[in-house]
Amino acid sequence: MGEAGGHHSNPLMIQSKTLAPSTGAPALDFGSAWDYAAAPERVQVKIAARYGHFIGGKFVPPAEGKHFPTVNPATEETLSEIALGSAADVDRAVAAAKAALPRWSRLPARERAKYMFRIARRIQERARELAVLETRDGGKPIKESRDIDIPEAAQHFFYHAGWADKLQYAFPGRNARPVGVCGQIIPWNFPLLMAAWKLAPALACGNTAVLKPAETTPLTALRLAEILAEIDLPPGVVNIVTGAGETGAALVAHPGVRKIAFTGSTEVGKKIAASIAGSGKRVTLELGGKSPNIIFEDASLDQAIEGIIQGIYYNQGHVCCAGSRLFVQESVLDEVLVKLDIRLRSLRVGDPLDKNTDVGAINSADQLQKIRRYLDVGRAEGADLHESNGSPLPERGYWCRPCYFTGVQPAHTIARDEIFGPVLAVMSFRTPEEAITRANNTPYGLAAGVWTDKGSKIFEVAKRLKAGVVWCNTYNQFDPASPFGGFKESGFGREGGLHGLRAYLELS
Ligand code: NAI
Ligand code: MG
Repeated sequence: MGEAGGHHSNPLMIQSKTLAPSTGAPALDFGSAWDYAAAPERVQVKIAARYGHFIGGKFVPPAEGKHFPTVNPATEETLSEIALGSAADVDRAVAAAKAALPRWSRLPARERAKYMFRIARRIQERARELAVLETRDGGKPIKESRDIDIPEAAQHFFYHAGWADKLQYAFPGRNARPVGVCGQIIPWNFPLLMAAWKLAPALACGNTAVLKPAETTPLTALRLAEILAEIDLPPGVVNIVTGAGETGAALVAHPGVRKIAFTGSTEVGKKIAASIAGSGKRVTLELGGKSPNIIFEDASLDQAIEGIIQGIYYNQGHVCCAGSRLFVQESVLDEVLVKLDIRLRSLRVGDPLDKNTDVGAINSADQLQKIRRYLDVGRAEGADLHESNGSPLPERGYWCRPCYFTGVQPAHTIARDEIFGPVLAVMSFRTPEEAITRANNTPYGLAAGVWTDKGSKIFEVAKRLKAGVVWCNTYNQFDPASPFGGFKESGFGREGGLHGLRAYLELS
């Protein structure tokens, strides 16, 4: 009863009992099958009242003395006050990165690798703390930060540590040198993991870095700074400057930065590409998506539904490669909708720190407002919204029930725009040809999913989908050894694997 005892005192705990069906699916009473006791993660994590920037191996106050709050989106409580980075702070950080560059880049590569192995090991040792921090600052379910974000962040350092002294084999016959100081700007959907995606290849290749975390989720990057100091990474090799868009823009504009790596919205990505044109700076961009999942009539439908659910409701849909458009072959559309509806209603929405939670809090009030606007637009344009509307949502915090639209036309806004929330647009098709054409009919091209029993169909369809990743009978599988990136407006360049290293090296 220990855990169940916390149940009633926890205002965020949701009890879902009888959920109203939202489509023509049979009304199901899940009854006591739904009565989980609350299982809150109880690890206590210390959070300082205030954080400075991490520059030259030390935490330093912001030059202009300004701070901004970071909140827990599940409770709206302020967790800490974060340094607001000005151009002067960025300048100081770039100077520290520049000063550290000669020694770091000339260190024997196996020595650089040792530092990286130590970072990876320390992330593993402090994994529980990092997971709780990630969940409190960003709203994602603890089971995701614990099982995916933090382990994969460690994995990225392990993988890239392995490359550090093998670059001559990665690019045989070429002389590989570091690019210099890297400016790295990351979003709020995978805060620590994106920091690892950016920092690990940069360090392995002998570069130094200035990282700017997203303004709503800076805490795990700042905890990573503590780890870097703990393992004695030479001062200045990694610097972390916190702030919002203006801080990021100052980093992009700084003449001392030789390479920009950005993950975020297509809108900001385009601004960055335009602003550095002609500067000689290198750039990689990981931008938005509107990724299709295609279910053929011969697919294993239960397996497909799991993949669809995972693809769109995972991390509240805050995933650049979320499978946000579903194309179902007409002959199985009704069956798929019934299964989707039943599975949707079994998802537990609520306290992200509860280990049973499937869908946590929306990352910010702004993002919630944006998602709600799309729900309104979808209805106004004539599509039908289906959501799991049985369980009460917590009173405070930013919440959106996982949902899907039917009756969606290709021209509808919800079929075209990246929503970045737990909102799926369901459409149908008759022939494989039509599925491919409609799936490719988007300015984006980050990822796609194909669900079929026929191997030949997988190869034929995957070959013709214009997407950086095509998953077959699975979705959202990642590995540091596999390059990731987009076609068209989804971005430029690749991260991960051999291809990702290339962006951090001068080859001659
Ligand atoms: P954003 O693109 O504004 O933010 C991403 C990062 O860029 C943050 O660190 C931010 O501070 C920084 N930034 C903002 N303006 C900048 C500028 N002018 N120069 C340099 N850095 C700048 O994304 P935001 O506003 O948080 O979310 C808006 C929408 O973007 C979301 O609703 C979603 O559709 C999309 N998005 C896509 C992501 C992806 O992984 N593809 C991640 C985050 C957001
Ligand atoms: Mg926050």
